[in-house]
Amino acid sequence: MRVAISTGGGDAPGLNAVIRAIVLSGLRRGWDVFGVERGYAGLLGSARFITMDRESVKGIVRFGGTILGTTNRGNPFRWPVRQADDTWIEVDRSDEVIESFRQLALDALIVVGGDGSLHIAHQLCQKGLPIVGVPKTIDRDVSGTVMTFGYDTAIQTATDAIDKLHATAESHQRVMVVEVMGRNCGWIALHSGLAGGADVILIPEIPYDMERVYRKIREREAEGRHFSIVVVSEGARPKEGKVTVKAAAQVGGAERLGGVAEVVAAQIAEGTGKETRSLSLGHLLRGGSPTTFDRVLGQRFGTAAVEAVADARWGHMVALDPPDIVLVPLEAVTGAPNQVPPDADSVKTARAQGICLGD
Ligand code: F6P
Repeated sequence: MRVAISTGGGDAPGLNAVIRAIVLSGLRRGWDVFGVERGYAGLLGSARFITMDRESVKGIVRFGGTILGTTNRGNPFRWPVRQADDTWIEVDRSDEVIESFRQLALDALIVVGGDGSLHIAHQLCQKGLPIVGVPKTIDRDVSGTVMTFGYDTAIQTATDAIDKLHATAESHQRVMVVEVMGRNCGWIALHSGLAGGADVILIPEIPYDMERVYRKIREREAEGRHFSIVVVSEGARPKEGKVTVKAAAQVGGAERLGGVAEVVAAQIAEGTGKETRSLSLGHLLRGGSPTTFDRVLGQRFGTAAVEAVADARWGHMVALDPPDIVLVPLEAVTGAPNQVPPDADSVKTARAQGICLGD
């Protein structure tokens, strides 16, 4: 067997654990294992490949990022091409991916990616490529799996940051508004907010009303609590309002969210008279050494993907269905993202303790 691995989309802690598990368990089966560089981009034009051996994955489990590199502008079905007049168009280069795969005499491709990369994997499968998927994202928004690796590290980083912000917020009697990633899913905000003892948590699934936020901060003031911590997900939006966008979608890519913390902080300062500061944790959440959970889940996913390849379960992705790792069809990722249900236990837990969710 000649098996290739590619990592696509935003990096997530635990990716290297997946790569190492695939390489080690693949080699033990006597397979040749290759790493494709920078996601699907590595299969276009002159393919960029690394032959993976034990040495190439030595000691990488504890490192964030991906040794294979990645990109989130590498959709071969919507490849951006600059025209002579400086405008951009999208071109379908998926046939080139299939051609590279054939030329390299590969038998299987393991795609480690978020919903975008797995959606592309599904499309490539439909065109005949033998693919197995591995879900990855800090956002925990991929449907079909209870958990993705990367998320646990991200919420740990966010919780540490919120803990640190408490000290300065309390000392200065300020409101601190901290923005976390998550795209259209509020898991990172909700769980790091709960863990960090936030007073207000704003998530995309529950559009907020700033009057509720002011009321919570005023109530705390009246109780002699002169500081507040607000955790806001980058995709949160006001009732009858829009998400805050940092950069509009470019050809071949998606719009970049960001900036909502600044907007919310300005409103809080205006609406409550409290001195308020904001910050965005941004890409910090994607970095760092993966937690034990993410290292183990990554390795479980990697070895399950190798088993799926051995069993020719093309068009499936590995998924966590506790306590098991199972296989689900790749179509699972093409539906709605895994958003926080409004009646989720974590939402109830927040409400029961008087945390304001903005509604
Ligand atoms: O999907 C992971 C993620 O980190 C999102 O939380 C965030 O919106 C996005 O990627 C940022 O992407 P980029 O790396 O293009 O800034």
